[in-house]
Amino acid sequence: MKSQDFVMAGADERFIFLEDTLIMAEGEQHSELTRLFAPLMSRQAVAYYELQLVEPAIQDSIAEMTSTRGEDGKVRADVVPLIHAALTRISARVTGVDGVDSKQATERFRDMVLAVSAATTASYSSATNPGAIIQKGKDALQALADEWMQASLDRRIALAKQHKAGEIEAADLPRDVLMSLCLAEDLSRPDDDKRVPYVWRHCAQFLTGSIKTTSHMLPHAFVHIDEWIKEHPEDRPNLTDPEWLHRAIAEAFRLHQTTPARFRKATRDVELSTGRKVASGEMVAIHAPVANVEAFGEDGRYFNIHREVPKGKKAWGMTFGIGKHSCIGQNLVTGIMNKGDAKHGTHGTAVRLLKAMYELGAELDPDNPPQRPHDNLHDTWESVPVILHKA
Ligand code: HEM
Repeated sequence: MKSQDFVMAGADERFIFLEDTLIMAEGEQHSELTRLFAPLMSRQAVAYYELQLVEPAIQDSIAEMTSTRGEDGKVRADVVPLIHAALTRISARVTGVDGVDSKQATERFRDMVLAVSAATTASYSSATNPGAIIQKGKDALQALADEWMQASLDRRIALAKQHKAGEIEAADLPRDVLMSLCLAEDLSRPDDDKRVPYVWRHCAQFLTGSIKTTSHMLPHAFVHIDEWIKEHPEDRPNLTDPEWLHRAIAEAFRLHQTTPARFRKATRDVELSTGRKVASGEMVAIHAPVANVEAFGEDGRYFNIHREVPKGKKAWGMTFGIGKHSCIGQNLVTGIMNKGDAKHGTHGTAVRLLKAMYELGAELDPDNPPQRPHDNLHDTWESVPVILHKA
């Protein structure tokens, strides 16, 4: 992933929905997009998203879940929809989609983004006809454009004009993907009428990149922590300690990937360090990077909160990528340097979400074990039912 001899590659759907976006761009185009979008993930912007958007969304979702009790008086919830609900508004805001506010709008928006997301990874589906999933994703993206994105874009085009005429300061403009593209006057491509238009491809990337990844990963952290606490009950008081949660989440992230494989194509004939030869134009895939396991010692396959992270390694290994395409949204998920940011009072969305659950005494529901997805190959949980003992 760090080699200059390989470029981004993947199945057809990656090009249909994501061509020319940050994740698929190479060379100068990639550098320009990185410069354009980097301010969206500044320390200040990340603090704004976490405190103003994620925290209220978590509290709303929790309030909704805790309003119904079972006949035994216990409150039951599911970690997966809770995470989806909390991330939907943040993904809309980072992308620049206005009006995703009411509960009904948020749910409709989430369902459409999840359809786009399934389409961008259609080849991992176990369905016999991935083409139908791709078409569903195209329809969902068009509906997102009709219902929200076109109006949001028009508003930003007008704002960019006013800014250029000196009527609005840069500091008063929204900070999001669509506004950045308007200011750069980079909104279209000549073949837009024949395919998913360029500007909606950027939206597809940020919408799916911010919801699906975290919601694939965080349930793993919940399940690992639950098992750990059963074996180490002395750690139970630490469940609401943010620094302990940072370590636990990083360890869970190390052991899982958001996608079954990452693809690259060789730009020339290459011999890998293992001696394996890759011809120019040939595609290679990294599946569950061994570097996430072997470099972490003999017990690298196991979840261990007390693990010493080897020098020069990230606590989550290569899970957020490595090299020029590494994840632009990592600080938003893990917090700055995988620690709390005392100045802004932030910890990243992952710690914030889990801490909120543990403050309500969340534990796996013994009568309803977590469920794996049955319609795709992703290493994730589709449902993680919990009981909120303190709710
Ligand atoms: C647990 C959460 C996340 C994980 C594990 C994750 C993982 C990754 C990985 C592995 C890559 C590199 C892909 C490759 O090299 O083939 C990547 C790239 C990217 N991620 Fe994330 N991601 C997460 C959350 C997010 C969020 C919240 C956002 C947006 C707000 C985001 C936006 C992006 C973008 C735009 C890229 C492309 C960067 C580039 O190519 O320069 N990700 N992510």
